[in-house]
Amino acid sequence: MSYPYQIKSFQEYKEAWEKSVNDPESFWGEIAEHFIWRKKWDKVLEWNFKEPSIKWFQGAKLNITENCLDRHLKTIADQPAIIWEPNDPHEHHRTLSYKQLHFKVCQFAQVLKNNGVTKGDRVCIYMGMIPELAIAVLACARIGAIHSVIFGGFSAQSIADRLQDAKAEYIITCDGAFRGGKDIPLKSVIDDALVVCPFVKRTIVYTRTRTPVSMIKGRDVWWEDEIYKVETMGNPAVAAEEMDAEDMLFILYTSGSTGKPKGVVHTVAGYMIYTNYSFVNVLQYRPREVHFCTADIGWITGHSYILYGPLSAGATSLMFEGIPTWPDAGRFWDIVDKHKVNILYTAPTAIRSLMSYGLAPLENKKLDSLRVLGTVGEPINEEAWHWYDEHIGKKKCPIVDTWWQTETGGMLISNMAGVTPAKPTFATLPLPGVQPVLVDENGNEIEGNGVSGNLCIKAPWPGILRTTYGDHERCRKTYFSTYPDLYFTGDGCLRDEDGFYRITGRVDDVLNVSGHRIGTAEVENAINMHAGVVESAVVGYPHEIKGQGIYAYVIYSGKHHEDELIRKDITATVSRIIGPIAKPDKIQFVSGLPKTRSGKIMRRILRKIAEGEMEKLGDTTTLLDPAVVDDISKGKL
Ligand code: WTA
Repeated sequence: MSYPYQIKSFQEYKEAWEKSVNDPESFWGEIAEHFIWRKKWDKVLEWNFKEPSIKWFQGAKLNITENCLDRHLKTIADQPAIIWEPNDPHEHHRTLSYKQLHFKVCQFAQVLKNNGVTKGDRVCIYMGMIPELAIAVLACARIGAIHSVIFGGFSAQSIADRLQDAKAEYIITCDGAFRGGKDIPLKSVIDDALVVCPFVKRTIVYTRTRTPVSMIKGRDVWWEDEIYKVETMGNPAVAAEEMDAEDMLFILYTSGSTGKPKGVVHTVAGYMIYTNYSFVNVLQYRPREVHFCTADIGWITGHSYILYGPLSAGATSLMFEGIPTWPDAGRFWDIVDKHKVNILYTAPTAIRSLMSYGLAPLENKKLDSLRVLGTVGEPINEEAWHWYDEHIGKKKCPIVDTWWQTETGGMLISNMAGVTPAKPTFATLPLPGVQPVLVDENGNEIEGNGVSGNLCIKAPWPGILRTTYGDHERCRKTYFSTYPDLYFTGDGCLRDEDGFYRITGRVDDVLNVSGHRIGTAEVENAINMHAGVVESAVVGYPHEIKGQGIYAYVIYSGKHHEDELIRKDITATVSRIIGPIAKPDKIQFVSGLPKTRSGKIMRRILRKIAEGEMEKLGDTTTLLDPAVVDDISKGKL
């Protein structure tokens, strides 16, 4: 494949950005010409941020899998689409060429049809990082079913909440998943979730770990048996369903500042074009290169840059089942050497974690295939940036720091590898089509350079979310009402003297723990479920490896056990309600929480205490009970 829209110089970037802002319709219309359509659009863009109503490529008909699979059969059928590296380095890796992936997606699409799944149905996918996860996702897209992938670290309760919200009647899962030395019993977690989701009609279970599972008659079937049935049907090639440009492609749940996760909705055409465009330009992919994005497909990064972006570009995408530190902290580097990885796209938390092992795990690792490095998910600190640059990229690989969100579908602010300037810890400049603005608390735009404020975006790009599933008003309120006519990101941001952007972190009550988004309200709700807990408040604090750690202040009434045991019980409760990813790192028992006279918890004070900045607590005289602050400070963990 060639990418006529791949930007090759800083000058070209500036011209593209200008054009994208002055004439977005012809800018994106020309790019869209390089995709496969059943019918072309009547209008490139129609939008307002008031409702919001955002429509890209209205009237067009297409199927994203024809763009990700079928179109490559004529040109690169035998090229690897997915290279899969298992958790255990002793197990063989698998390679699926475009032809093979196409075949398997069609086969599983037929399985879905045989099991009653039709266009518009919501299908929940809860699997480990195995090729069948990619196949399941693409098979849904092929028949027009809306996939909702749930990360393997979420609990039964979280799954049940999501199934109910999406009214998903179909589930695709595995017996279990391997992650490092652990074997996670996925099907058993699903079984627990289904106790409160009687509307689920079918669960399709793939065998990965051979963990014993209970299969319920009439509801649960084996993936392998269903494939066998399709084989005996002679493997009919499943035609791709014709979709409208604005039909839903998927729902992905993400945390916000309220207790309930939101189902972010992306639609077919805009998402496809934006993930492809950003992949090709930011990472500067070259045909036949091996691209390794280390994210899990349970998060947006995996959706956009393991699957849809790379596959629509005919790239070779490496998918890894395991974790960076098992069996040892050289695992990523072994994979890079083994598969001659050219592009490595990972999270700062992984870099910091690997840094902490020193340089020994890098001994005898060549890493000479690497050409481009990338980071995503959280601000990267200077030290980690330089370590990545020196020890992994050997100072020869440009590093792209890509800022974006589940809601944005793809990267919005980032340098382009080797094409636009990089600056450590800065995401730098907006992609073409993206108009960032900084605003103050009153919503006034802050102009000029050397300023900071809340980051908003002025106009839609093709990958922007369209709604939150089942609750459009929530979408409007969360993203489009804080500042009229702007999309509000929830992030704080600095624009330096050169006009480069640096994202400084969330300004709402959302934590970023190891690159995972977690709402403080969600964690508080979970802690408050514990029988002895009266009230709690959760804040983030700087954590050397995770970026942010979870600090919980808890008022506890029961006195039956010693503190350590109660802490364990509370942690177990959070694990049970949300999942192990939301476990607090620190739990401090307090007698009261700092509240204003109207009863609002002053989180600012709690954050400062958790950060150990006691001298910066500010004015506490307006509190209902100022003495409580002293008590809390003294008891800091
Ligand atoms: C943060 C992940 C600084 C940010 C793709 C954002 C970043 C949230 C960066 C979205 C970056 C992501 N620099 N911060 N390069 N990338 N973030 O939805 O706070 O899981 O709002 O999407 O991660 O997290 P999400």
